[in-house]
Amino acid sequence: MSILICGGAGYIGSHVVLELIKKNYDIVVIDNLSNGHKEFLQKDARFYEGDIRDEKLVEKIIHDEKIDSVVHFAAFSLVGESMINPAKYYDNNVLATFSLLNSLRKNNVKKIIFSSTAAVYGEPQSIPITEDNPVNPINPYGETKITIEKMLHWFDKAYGIKYVALRYFNVAGADESGQIGEAHNPETHLIPIILKAVRDNKTIKIFGNDYPTPDGTCIRDYIHVTDLAAAHILALEKLSDQSKIYNLGNNKGLSVMEIVKAAEIVTGKKINYEIAPRRVGDPAILIASSEKIKNELGWQPKFCTPEKIISSAWNWHKNH
Ligand SMILES: NC(=O)c1ccc[n+]([C@@H]2O[C@H](COP(=O)([O-])OP(=O)(O)OC[C@H]3O[C@@H](n4cnc5c(N)ncnc54)[C@H](O)[C@@H]3O)[C@@H](O)[C@H]2O)c1
Repeated sequence: MSILICGGAGYIGSHVVLELIKKNYDIVVIDNLSNGHKEFLQKDARFYEGDIRDEKLVEKIIHDEKIDSVVHFAAFSLVGESMINPAKYYDNNVLATFSLLNSLRKNNVKKIIFSSTAAVYGEPQSIPITEDNPVNPINPYGETKITIEKMLHWFDKAYGIKYVALRYFNVAGADESGQIGEAHNPETHLIPIILKAVRDNKTIKIFGNDYPTPDGTCIRDYIHVTDLAAAHILALEKLSDQSKIYNLGNNKGLSVMEIVKAAEIVTGKKINYEIAPRRVGDPAILIASSEKIKNELGWQPKFCTPEKIISSAWNWHKNH
């Protein structure tokens, strides 16, 4: 039996594929390459270039490849773009997942791991954020992800499709081999923005230094992509008859300025920055509690320090 990775040519998907292959799983990737990278694909994973909305193709893959579980990364995820063009997000996130779930339902595939996000919480009620914090997204991107979580809930109740929804906080870093890394276009994530600026001798913008935090810049919780990949494998291996929702972060907040300082140490270069106005919809502080996945699945992150996360990203960025 094989695992279908939807969006496996993207940043996180390609890292999960790599870790699954190391554990000898039989892997099949579907990606329409809208944001993916052919060079991130592994020769040991069979690749189908196509869209998860193409039910004929997905059903053929399920049948031909004997798929029994799915890991679903395929989505658009630019918060700012989702504010300007929510239709694009409802289409590619909600409708595409609906189509994928229909293909699973019709072909008796009963297991899915889904990439959700901290954006489902909006402005959190308390820090660190636990999974029972009320969900209240403040942008269409987060709204599409919680809509999908609800759809998963009802597809489980009615059709018995079991799921784990993983709510990632800020994913960063790269595989230690240096062969794959984080490359979005446009890039909106802080660590790759900083590292590209170092490499190309550019100035970065820091959005707001008047937040109610010790140095005035936003605080986020960073998780290494390889630790995140390990959580997907645990979720796949331990998902049984009860669907689950887990946060994934490091229970540790780092401000934008702290990341800038850590990146200066890792790269040995001064980082040029200017202060720009706050962005709409950026909460001051987002820190995860990941106790639930640690307690229930035994997840243990290995690359927790900003230095480890940034140096692995730098290892990839300085050569790409
Ligand atoms: N990167 C983060 O920090 C972060 C945080 C929280 C949640 N997430 C979620 O994790 C997932 C992966 O994020 P990423 O950073 O790797 O993004 P990414 O853009 O690098 O990867 C997504 C992949 O899905 C593919 N894709 C998109 N729509 C598709 C479709 N309709 N059919 C087939 N393929 C399609 C893209 O080509 C791309 O390769 C996304 O669902 C995202 O919302 C990411």
